[in-house]
Amino acid sequence: MRRQPTIAHSDLLPIGAEKSKQVRAMFDSISGRYDLVNRLISLGLDGRWRGRCVRALGLPASSIIADIACGTGDFCNLLESTGYRSIGLDFSIGMLRARTTRSPCVQADASNMPLATASVDGITCGFALRNFSDLEQAFLEMARVTRAGGRISLLDASLPKRAIFRAGHNLYFNRLVPVIGAAFSDRSAYQYLPKSVGYLPEPEKLRIMLERAGFDVDGHIFPTFGAIQIISATRT
Ligand SMILES: C[S@@+](CC[C@H](N)C(=O)[O-])C[C@H]1O[C@@H](n2cnc3c(N)ncnc32)[C@H](O)[C@@H]1O
Repeated sequence: MRRQPTIAHSDLLPIGAEKSKQVRAMFDSISGRYDLVNRLISLGLDGRWRGRCVRALGLPASSIIADIACGTGDFCNLLESTGYRSIGLDFSIGMLRARTTRSPCVQADASNMPLATASVDGITCGFALRNFSDLEQAFLEMARVTRAGGRISLLDASLPKRAIFRAGHNLYFNRLVPVIGAAFSDRSAYQYLPKSVGYLPEPEKLRIMLERAGFDVDGHIFPTFGAIQIISATRT
Protein backbone atom coordinates (compact mmCIF):
# COMPACT_ATOMS: atom_id res chain seq x y z
CA MET A 1 0.00 0.00 0.00
CA ARG A 2 1.23 3.52 -0.83
CA ARG A 3 2.37 5.38 2.26
CA GLN A 4 0.39 8.56 2.88
CA PRO A 5 2.86 11.44 3.28
CA THR A 6 2.42 13.65 6.32
CA ILE A 7 3.52 17.25 6.67
CA ALA A 8 5.47 16.46 9.79
CA HIS A 9 7.56 13.51 8.68
CA SER A 10 8.06 13.51 4.96
CA ASP A 11 9.84 15.48 2.30
CA LEU A 12 6.93 14.64 0.02
CA LEU A 13 4.19 17.18 0.40
CA PRO A 14 0.59 15.96 0.53
CA ILE A 15 -1.98 16.90 -2.12
CA GLY A 16 -5.77 17.17 -2.46
CA ALA A 17 -8.06 16.52 0.50
CA GLU A 18 -5.15 15.19 2.56
CA LYS A 19 -3.31 18.49 2.09
CA SER A 20 -6.35 20.52 3.21
CA LYS A 21 -6.81 18.33 6.28
CA GLN A 22 -3.18 18.59 7.33
CA VAL A 23 -2.85 22.31 6.59
CA ARG A 24 -5.97 23.10 8.62
CA ALA A 25 -4.81 20.94 11.55
CA MET A 26 -1.38 22.57 11.41
CA PHE A 27 -2.75 26.14 11.52
CA ASP A 28 -5.17 25.15 14.29
CA SER A 29 -2.21 23.94 16.33
CA ILE A 30 0.16 26.90 15.75
CA SER A 31 -2.47 29.67 15.92
CA GLY A 32 -1.62 30.80 19.47
CA ARG A 33 1.91 31.84 18.56
CA TYR A 34 1.40 32.45 14.84
CA ASP A 35 1.70 36.25 15.00
CA LEU A 36 4.80 36.20 17.20
CA VAL A 37 6.65 33.67 15.02
CA ASN A 38 5.55 35.49 11.88
CA ARG A 39 7.18 38.72 13.10
CA LEU A 40 10.34 36.84 14.07
CA ILE A 41 10.85 34.85 10.88
CA SER A 42 10.00 37.78 8.62
CA LEU A 43 12.40 39.96 10.65
CA GLY A 44 9.47 42.32 11.19
CA LEU A 45 9.04 42.87 7.45
CA ASP A 46 5.64 41.17 7.10
CA GLY A 47 3.77 44.40 7.90
CA ARG A 48 5.64 46.23 5.14
CA TRP A 49 4.81 43.48 2.61
CA ARG A 50 1.14 43.57 3.58
CA GLY A 51 1.20 47.36 3.20
CA ARG A 52 2.52 47.10 -0.37
CA CYS A 53 -0.06 44.47 -1.14
CA VAL A 54 -2.94 46.63 0.14
CA ARG A 55 -1.64 49.71 -1.71
CA ALA A 56 -1.64 47.73 -4.96
CA LEU A 57 -5.44 47.46 -4.70
CA GLY A 58 -5.87 51.16 -5.45
CA LEU A 59 -9.63 51.13 -4.85
CA PRO A 60 -11.77 54.02 -3.52
CA ALA A 61 -12.24 54.41 0.24
CA SER A 62 -15.04 52.30 1.77
CA SER A 63 -14.67 49.59 -0.90
CA ILE A 64 -15.52 46.14 0.44
CA ILE A 65 -12.48 43.88 0.49
CA ALA A 66 -12.60 40.17 1.31
CA ASP A 67 -9.38 38.95 2.86
CA ILE A 68 -9.12 35.29 1.89
CA ALA A 69 -7.29 33.02 4.36
CA CYS A 70 -7.28 35.89 6.83
CA GLY A 71 -5.61 33.95 9.64
CA THR A 72 -5.50 36.11 12.76
CA GLY A 73 -6.65 39.19 10.84
CA ASP A 74 -3.57 41.32 10.15
CA PHE A 75 -4.80 42.13 6.64
CA CYS A 76 -8.31 42.98 7.90
CA ASN A 77 -6.82 45.44 10.40
CA LEU A 78 -4.63 47.04 7.77
CA LEU A 79 -7.50 47.27 5.26
CA GLU A 80 -9.70 48.98 7.87
CA SER A 81 -6.98 51.45 8.86
CA THR A 82 -6.49 52.24 5.16
CA GLY A 83 -10.16 53.20 4.83
CA TYR A 84 -11.58 50.02 3.32
CA ARG A 85 -14.30 47.82 4.81
CA SER A 86 -13.06 44.27 5.26
CA ILE A 87 -14.37 40.80 5.85
CA GLY A 88 -12.17 37.81 6.59
CA LEU A 89 -12.46 34.17 5.59
CA ASP A 90 -10.35 31.30 6.84
CA PHE A 91 -10.89 27.56 7.21
CA SER A 92 -8.91 27.22 10.46
CA ILE A 93 -11.07 27.80 13.50
CA GLY A 94 -7.90 28.03 15.62
CA MET A 95 -6.60 30.96 13.58
CA LEU A 96 -10.01 32.67 13.70
CA ARG A 97 -10.21 32.24 17.48
CA ALA A 98 -6.78 33.88 17.82
CA ARG A 99 -7.83 36.83 15.65
CA THR A 100 -7.00 40.37 16.64
CA THR A 101 -9.49 42.06 14.32
CA ARG A 102 -12.99 43.42 14.80
CA SER A 103 -13.83 42.89 11.14
CA PRO A 104 -16.46 40.22 10.53
CA CYS A 105 -14.77 36.88 9.92
CA VAL A 106 -16.21 33.57 8.82
CA GLN A 107 -14.90 30.02 8.76
CA ALA A 108 -14.87 29.06 5.09
CA ASP A 109 -12.80 27.34 2.44
CA ALA A 110 -11.26 29.50 -0.29
CA SER A 111 -12.51 27.00 -2.88
CA ASN A 112 -16.15 27.53 -1.90
CA MET A 113 -16.79 30.96 -0.39
CA PRO A 114 -20.08 31.89 1.26
CA LEU A 115 -20.17 35.16 -0.70
CA ALA A 116 -22.61 36.17 -3.42
CA THR A 117 -21.42 36.56 -7.00
CA ALA A 118 -19.87 39.99 -7.70
CA SER A 119 -20.46 41.01 -4.07
CA VAL A 120 -17.01 42.45 -3.24
CA ASP A 121 -14.93 45.27 -4.73
CA GLY A 122 -11.65 43.61 -4.03
CA ILE A 123 -9.69 40.73 -2.53
CA THR A 124 -6.47 40.36 -0.63
CA CYS A 125 -4.82 37.07 0.19
CA GLY A 126 -1.56 36.75 2.10
CA PHE A 127 0.79 33.77 2.38
CA ALA A 128 -1.93 31.30 1.54
CA LEU A 129 -1.83 30.48 -2.19
CA ARG A 130 0.69 27.72 -1.54
CA ASN A 131 -1.53 26.26 1.14
CA PHE A 132 -4.58 25.83 -1.08
CA SER A 133 -5.16 22.30 -2.30
CA ASP A 134 -6.86 23.54 -5.49
CA LEU A 135 -5.37 26.88 -6.53
CA GLU A 136 -7.28 27.02 -9.82
CA GLN A 137 -10.59 26.61 -8.02
CA ALA A 138 -9.60 29.32 -5.48
CA PHE A 139 -8.87 31.72 -8.38
CA LEU A 140 -12.23 30.89 -9.98
CA GLU A 141 -13.95 31.63 -6.66
CA MET A 142 -12.08 34.94 -6.36
CA ALA A 143 -13.27 35.81 -9.87
CA ARG A 144 -16.85 34.83 -9.06
CA VAL A 145 -17.17 36.98 -5.94
CA THR A 146 -15.35 40.06 -7.32
CA ARG A 147 -17.39 42.60 -9.29
CA ALA A 148 -16.28 43.57 -12.81
CA GLY A 149 -13.57 46.22 -12.48
CA GLY A 150 -12.78 45.07 -8.94
CA ARG A 151 -9.19 44.40 -7.89
CA ILE A 152 -7.25 41.60 -6.26
CA SER A 153 -3.84 41.76 -4.65
CA LEU A 154 -2.09 38.56 -3.63
CA LEU A 155 1.01 38.26 -1.45
CA ASP A 156 3.09 35.14 -1.09
CA ALA A 157 6.58 33.80 -0.75
CA SER A 158 8.82 33.29 -3.77
CA LEU A 159 12.22 31.84 -4.58
CA PRO A 160 14.93 34.40 -5.38
CA LYS A 161 16.25 34.05 -8.94
CA ARG A 162 19.87 35.02 -8.33
CA ALA A 163 21.99 32.13 -7.04
CA ILE A 164 23.52 34.10 -4.16
CA PHE A 165 20.15 35.22 -2.80
CA ARG A 166 18.72 31.76 -3.37
CA ALA A 167 21.52 30.22 -1.29
CA GLY A 168 20.92 32.71 1.55
CA HIS A 169 17.19 32.12 1.32
CA ASN A 170 17.69 28.36 1.43
CA LEU A 171 19.95 28.61 4.48
CA TYR A 172 17.61 30.93 6.32
CA PHE A 173 14.29 29.25 5.59
CA ASN A 174 15.36 25.62 5.62
CA ARG A 175 17.83 25.75 8.51
CA LEU A 176 17.09 28.73 10.74
CA VAL A 177 13.31 29.05 10.47
CA PRO A 178 12.66 25.50 11.78
CA VAL A 179 14.90 26.28 14.77
CA ILE A 180 12.96 29.49 15.51
CA GLY A 181 9.73 27.53 15.02
CA ALA A 182 10.90 24.83 17.45
CA ALA A 183 11.90 27.41 20.06
CA PHE A 184 8.62 29.33 19.99
CA SER A 185 6.04 27.04 18.42
CA ASP A 186 6.21 23.78 16.47
CA ARG A 187 9.27 22.57 14.54
CA SER A 188 7.43 20.40 12.00
CA ALA A 189 5.07 23.23 11.03
CA TYR A 190 8.02 25.55 10.44
CA GLN A 191 9.75 22.83 8.43
CA TYR A 192 6.66 22.55 6.25
CA LEU A 193 6.15 26.27 5.68
CA PRO A 194 9.43 26.92 3.79
CA LYS A 195 8.97 23.70 1.82
CA SER A 196 5.44 24.68 0.87
CA VAL A 197 6.83 27.30 -1.55
CA GLY A 198 7.34 24.23 -3.75
CA TYR A 199 3.58 24.10 -4.27
CA LEU A 200 3.56 27.48 -6.01
CA PRO A 201 3.50 27.45 -9.80
CA GLU A 202 6.19 29.47 -11.60
CA PRO A 203 5.32 33.21 -11.83
CA GLU A 204 4.37 32.97 -15.52
CA LYS A 205 2.06 30.03 -14.81
CA LEU A 206 0.44 31.90 -11.90
CA ARG A 207 -0.35 34.83 -14.18
CA ILE A 208 -1.80 32.52 -16.83
CA MET A 209 -4.00 30.82 -14.19
CA LEU A 210 -5.31 34.21 -13.06
CA GLU A 211 -5.97 35.36 -16.63
CA ARG A 212 -7.87 32.14 -17.31
CA ALA A 213 -9.95 32.67 -14.17
CA GLY A 214 -11.06 36.11 -15.43
CA PHE A 215 -8.43 38.63 -14.30
CA ASP A 216 -6.21 41.05 -16.15
CA VAL A 217 -2.84 40.90 -14.36
CA ASP A 218 -1.23 44.36 -14.24
CA GLY A 219 1.43 43.99 -11.57
CA HIS A 220 3.81 41.26 -10.41
CA ILE A 221 6.67 42.41 -8.22
CA PHE A 222 9.32 40.49 -6.28
CA PRO A 223 10.53 42.56 -3.28
CA THR A 224 13.12 41.59 -0.65
CA PHE A 225 15.62 40.05 -3.10
CA GLY A 226 12.87 38.00 -4.73
CA ALA A 227 11.82 36.20 -1.54
CA ILE A 228 8.32 37.69 -1.80
CA GLN A 229 5.86 38.23 -4.63
CA ILE A 230 2.84 40.49 -4.95
CA ILE A 231 0.47 40.00 -7.87
CA SER A 232 -2.25 42.53 -8.62
CA ALA A 233 -5.02 42.18 -11.15
CA THR A 234 -8.36 43.62 -12.26
CA ARG A 235 -11.52 41.54 -12.71
CA THR A 236 -12.42 41.71 -16.39
C1 LIG B 1 0.39 31.49 6.50
S1 LIG B 1 -1.24 31.79 7.07
C2 LIG B 1 -1.53 33.46 6.53
C3 LIG B 1 -2.54 34.19 7.37
C4 LIG B 1 -2.76 35.65 7.00
N1 LIG B 1 -3.25 35.79 5.65
C5 LIG B 1 -1.51 36.47 7.18
O1 LIG B 1 -1.18 37.26 6.29
O2 LIG B 1 -0.86 36.34 8.23
C6 LIG B 1 -2.18 30.87 5.91
C7 LIG B 1 -3.65 30.84 6.24
O3 LIG B 1 -4.35 30.22 5.16
C8 LIG B 1 -5.44 29.50 5.71
N2 LIG B 1 -5.89 28.55 4.68
C9 LIG B 1 -5.15 27.61 4.07
N3 LIG B 1 -5.88 26.96 3.16
C10 LIG B 1 -7.13 27.52 3.18
C11 LIG B 1 -8.31 27.28 2.46
N4 LIG B 1 -8.39 26.33 1.53
N5 LIG B 1 -9.39 28.04 2.74
C12 LIG B 1 -9.33 29.02 3.69
N6 LIG B 1 -8.23 29.27 4.42
C13 LIG B 1 -7.13 28.54 4.16
C14 LIG B 1 -4.85 28.87 6.95
O4 LIG B 1 -5.82 28.42 7.86
C15 LIG B 1 -4.00 30.02 7.49
O5 LIG B 1 -4.73 30.82 8.39
